[in-house]
Amino acid sequence: MVAVHVLNGPNLNLLGTREPATYGAVTLADVEERLKAKAAAAGVELAFKQTNYEGELVTFVQQAGLAGAGVVINAGAYTHTSVALRDAIKGADALAIELHVSNVHAREEFRHHSYMAPVCVGVICGFGAAGYEIAFDAIVPLLQKRATKPAA
Ligand code: DQA
Repeated sequence: MVAVHVLNGPNLNLLGTREPATYGAVTLADVEERLKAKAAAAGVELAFKQTNYEGELVTFVQQAGLAGAGVVINAGAYTHTSVALRDAIKGADALAIELHVSNVHAREEFRHHSYMAPVCVGVICGFGAAGYEIAFDAIVPLLQKRATKPAA
């Protein structure tokens, strides 16, 4: 069974109440419920986590990558600052999608740069909380394809 770990960084616990004009009214608990239903329907194992601590997020990425799980990561502000997160994705050989609720490219310049994007298979941003479902739908076939690939 393929597994997907959805990892959320700092301030995403406030989704739904934090700056609603930018991030919308859907809470992280709502997102988790939606993904649980999708995962159950698709027969995919799901882990859904949030932390405000950079080191803990690094540990979550390592755990997922080393276990062979796919990673959907909304690293929040750490996206724009953290070499450690990039190294964790690369070091654990994680198949990862970078996700943002808002369109970071339509916002302040400091949000345009991501340390993680070059080591992710792709980036999804600007679709609001629906981005989590889009990312889930994108990563599952990649994991299934990888799982059925004969060993080299
Ligand atoms: C965010 C975008 C980041 O720039 C910001 O620091 C966040 C949330 C998003 O989901 O749009 O905390 O990752």
